[in-house]
Amino acid sequence: MKLLLIGFGTVGQGLAELLIDKENILKDKYGMTVQVVGIADMLKGSVYNPGGVDLAQALKRAKGGEMIPGPAGGFDGDALAMIKQAKADMMVEATYTDIKTGEPATSHIRAALEKGMHVTTTNKGPTALFLYELEQLAAKEGVEFLYEGTVMSGTPLLNLARETLAGCRITEAKGILNGTTNYILTRMEEGLSYEVALAKAQELGYAEAVPDADVLGWDALAKVTIIANAIFGKKSTPEDFPCKGITEITAEAIAEAKSRGKRFKLIGKVWRDGDQIKASVGPEEIDLSHPLAGIMGATNAVTLTTDILGDVTIVGPGAGRTETGYSTLVDIIHVGGKR
Ligand code: HSE
Repeated sequence: MKLLLIGFGTVGQGLAELLIDKENILKDKYGMTVQVVGIADMLKGSVYNPGGVDLAQALKRAKGGEMIPGPAGGFDGDALAMIKQAKADMMVEATYTDIKTGEPATSHIRAALEKGMHVTTTNKGPTALFLYELEQLAAKEGVEFLYEGTVMSGTPLLNLARETLAGCRITEAKGILNGTTNYILTRMEEGLSYEVALAKAQELGYAEAVPDADVLGWDALAKVTIIANAIFGKKSTPEDFPCKGITEITAEAIAEAKSRGKRFKLIGKVWRDGDQIKASVGPEEIDLSHPLAGIMGATNAVTLTTDILGDVTIVGPGAGRTETGYSTLVDIIHVGGKR
């Protein structure tokens, strides 16, 4: 399988490391040889080689703060130009998320699908705003449009709901969907200031490029919208649902809640109300005995309420380099692996 990596930041590099580490498993277990033929990054430069780029070298350069192509020179053009020109089977779209416009990622995805490439993305902008349109385009072109990593990073909530729980009617999805805010609330309870906790979340690669998207709840709102569309079949965009973040929660309020046996969590939920689908994002005071109260740091958790099994809860990483990179590896194996 020939791959294009569009965006070579945290997620793209996380995938590149996994492709190198898992080369033998990909071959032996899934019958796959994965070759990266192009990398395009707005800041780090672009390189294209139909015979395969040197991934280890590109990783080394990116980690060292160097331009990916090195002195030999790179691809002359932007990501869109590379997508239009390249011969590849699948594109990994991992540029920064813009939840308001979905760009430039949506244009990248449309261009790749129109060329008959499969696409996996971790980008919440296109998926929260244009999921139906992109899925229809993929179906028309006879390719896959996959986006497991947009919700809970590599923790497989979407695959769980759509494949493993096939046949169940899901009536509610409720949980902690943003790693940054859960990390900040956890560290504030331990005594760190909001500012220091946020800076640490950025250092650890959890936060969005513009962390307003995390702390104001927009990132969780995008994920809630993806869940509403993908799991509940509710054609919706983020503007359809109420959203509040954590910026008004003070250290004093956290301590006071704890003295009453409660803990603040930023809760995202989607639920059936008669024949309507509703959704929201906002801070809630959860009883310390509630399973979601024990979810700390950047961990995410979602409880799916089903008609057949009752509640099924999935807990796992919600952000991070390898964790999110892994979600794209799963989608790549889904498309090209023998199982
Ligand atoms: N900024 C996001 C979070 C990254 O903190 O959860 C994963 O989507």
